[in-house]
Amino acid sequence: MININKVTAVFFSPTHGSEKYAKAIAKEISAEFEVLDLTNPNARRRRYGFECDELVIFGAPVYAGRLPSVDGGIFDNVFGNDTPAVFTVSYGNRAYEDALLEEKNICEANGFKGIAAGAWIAPHTYSDKIAAGRPDSDDLKKVSEFADKIKEIISNKNLSEISLEVPGNYPYKKAKPTPLYPRGNKNAQTAGNVRRSVRRRRSIPRLRKKPIQKNASPVWRASKTVRSEREGY
Ligand SMILES: Cc1cc2nc3c(=O)[nH]c(=O)nc-3n(C[C@H](O)[C@H](O)[C@H](O)COP(=O)(O)O)c2cc1C
Repeated sequence: MININKVTAVFFSPTHGSEKYAKAIAKEISAEFEVLDLTNPNARRRRYGFECDELVIFGAPVYAGRLPSVDGGIFDNVFGNDTPAVFTVSYGNRAYEDALLEEKNICEANGFKGIAAGAWIAPHTYSDKIAAGRPDSDDLKKVSEFADKIKEIISNKNLSEISLEVPGNYPYKKAKPTPLYPRGNKNAQTAGNVRRSVRRRRSIPRLRKKPIQKNASPVWRASKTVRSEREGY
């Protein structure tokens, strides 16, 4: 049995799809749960710690088959202490490729231990038609079944017995700068608003030639301008 005294949904979610799934899973496991929203860059600058008697549900979107490449990383300041974790990503019905594996690897390197993982379909940031209205009632039924399995694992297994494997390849798919990106704001909750909040980023081809952190991983290879634009998340 895994002893859990607190459940927290931890997510980065500019258009709220990943947030909805992470919260729905957390709620199914415990009616009372905490929320740590890392969408705002100020929130990502702080460091957070979780103990071994807590359960963390991670959630993030898939951008070009990877986790979004944001300044400082999404979950890099979130630390566990052999803390059980559920890894989730939301994607716009194309593919999630290496994003779930990337999330798992980043969080496990920071002291979390995966006990379950899932990739979920949510409205595509670029479209008000693709996956509109998701999660729908069928999705929420699957969330509920998924949470039941997590509860079963918590009741019947020890953390040391679990070895979670998720789809994805390492080395990951090459991170590619995206020509469009969402500028999260309070209005960006519906697909129509999301489309209005998406801006074209023209500077990428020139800036890609000049990474400012030469030894950094692909996730960090963002130019100064791109990074400051990303502060708009
Ligand atoms: C820059 C960018 C790249 C994306 N790449 C993919 C992708 O590779 N596969 C996919 O299925 N959806 C992709 N999407 C759609 C998002 O993964 C999807 O809309 C996600 O649910 C958004 O999460 P959020 O609502 O938590 O922000 C992309 C969206 C953006 C903005």
